[in-house]
Order: sequence, then C-alpha cells, then structure tokens
Amino acid sequence: LQNFVTVEELTNLEVMSLILRASEFKHGALPDKELTNGIYASNLFFENSTRTHKSFEMAENKLGMGVIHFDTSTSSIRKGESLYDTVLTLSAIGVDVVVIRHSAEAYYKELISSPTITASVINGGDGAGQHPSQCLLDLVTIYEEFHYFSGLKIAICGDLTHSRVAKSNMQMLQRLGATLYFSGPSEWYDESFNAYGTYVAIDDIVSEVDVMMLLRVQNERHENDDKSYSKEEYLQQFGLTVERERMMKDSAIIMHPAPVNRDVELADSLVECGRSRIVTQMTNGVFARMAILEAVLNGRNEQKNR
Ligand code: CP
Repeated sequence: LQNFVTVEELTNLEVMSLILRASEFKHGALPDKELTNGIYASNLFFENSTRTHKSFEMAENKLGMGVIHFDTSTSSIRKGESLYDTVLTLSAIGVDVVVIRHSAEAYYKELISSPTITASVINGGDGAGQHPSQCLLDLVTIYEEFHYFSGLKIAICGDLTHSRVAKSNMQMLQRLGATLYFSGPSEWYDESFNAYGTYVAIDDIVSEVDVMMLLRVQNERHENDDKSYSKEEYLQQFGLTVERERMMKDSAIIMHPAPVNRDVELADSLVECGRSRIVTQMTNGVFARMAILEAVLNGRNEQKNR
C-alpha cells in the first residue's frame, strides 16, 4: 500500500493480512524499528477526534516513528493556506506519512495524485465518505470474537446516512460474506444501502444477530431537521434498551465506534456490560493502526526498490 484512503481499494487478502498483523501486535509482536527509523508522521485533524487522533499517535510512537505535532488552529491554514499546500509543505520538510481527518469527502484524491507530494496519505475520516481505519479495527474486533465473517449476521443501526463508519463497514463486511441488516429512523436511511443489506425494525432482528453495531446520532448534523427525537424517544424506538439486550443471543456482541451518546443509542448500563466490545474496539484501534502504518511504510519501501 502506498496510501490508505478507502476500504474499497483493498483486496480481501490485504484486509486479512492487516487483521492478522494487528492481532500479532496485540499479542506482543515487536515492530521492525529499522522500518521506522528516521520516518516521520504528522496527524492533521480538521474535525474533532479523540480515538482516531490519539490512537494513531500511540501507534506511531509504538512503531518508533517520529511524530511532528500539527495544530490546525495555529497553522497557516488560518491564513488561508489550502489543504493541498499544507501537505505539500509537510512533505517537502520531510514528513513521510500524513494522517488526515477532513470534512470534505474524498479530500485525499488531489493529494495522492500529486506529482510533487511524496508523503503517504492515511484517511482518518473524510466527511460522510469513509473511515477505513475504524473499519479495520471493527474487523479486528469481530474476527477476534468469531474467527470468521462469512455467514455472520450483523445489524448496523442508527444514523446511517451521516455515518462514514457505516459506509466503510457495509462495503467491507458484505464483501467478506456477512449478512447485513440496517435499522434506525427512515429519514436517516438511504435506498442505496439496499445493495448491502435489508432495512428492518430493531425488534425484528435483535434476537437473531451476532453483532449489534450501533452508530452515534450525529446531533451536530441534525440541527435543521424537520423531525427531532428526544433521548428517550430515540432509545425506545431505535436504540438498544436493557429489554432488547436481554433478547440477544448469548454469543452476540455489542459494538459502537464511539463517542457514545449514553442512553440514546444504547442504555447507559450496556456500554461496559459483558457483551459490549466498545472498549475493546478502542484498544484494538491502536493495533489496527500500527498494522496500517507498517503496511504503508512497507509499500513505500517496495516502490523505492523498484
Ligand atoms: N470512532 C471515532 O472515529 O472516534 P473519534 O471521532 O473520537 O476519532
């Protein structure tokens, strides 16, 4: 890999090798410090983030990379410099990998097609487009639990239209053979998702699924909506209540990319319950991102040696 910007571009073999490598890191495999010696990363987050930003930073440090701090609020972006010119500059001063979260969908296209920018681009989330590193950590979490994807029944529930996590996950989980169900308010559902799964009421599927994946209600994108839900209404109509959780199969797990709106997408008491893998997802984020960074650095070396 030269860049890591969407899940669509990955082969199944590449996905499986990233999952297995993340698992190796989790179980104590040591990074190849020769690969990362003298290599620098910079993390450019133009939208808010805790998990993605800080777990990339942790992954870069664990791999032994140099991390060049970048603060969007004090950079020359504030003087009107474009994203392209910002990355051009970081690349010119010797940054090898940039991790970027930006509100513009597919912002990365002009960066990875530039003849001058030599830094690799890792997508930390592009608008309502893709969140490929979250997808990989979700795959690591599901694989760790079940050791397969084909035939698993997975529900993705909630604010589907605004969720880049949902888009990356529906594409990849369908490709890996999972059967997908979607649930949530109809006004937050897009018919294009029918290509990946079946739209159902949460009560019709809660006792069937192996994975109940809940999505954050993106309140910041609903300020001008005609229809709104109180916390209680949303949880009762669309969320995972304690009563619904009791109907889940013994082996089924709960996932959520977080941040969680407690008592909205799921009952507060379920966030850290026995079948919840929400904290595990956060932990796995570091190892998934180590695997992504390593794969990109290996790809750069292969390109150089051609
Ligand atoms: N899941 C996720 O992307 O969280 P952050 O927005 O905190 O990075």
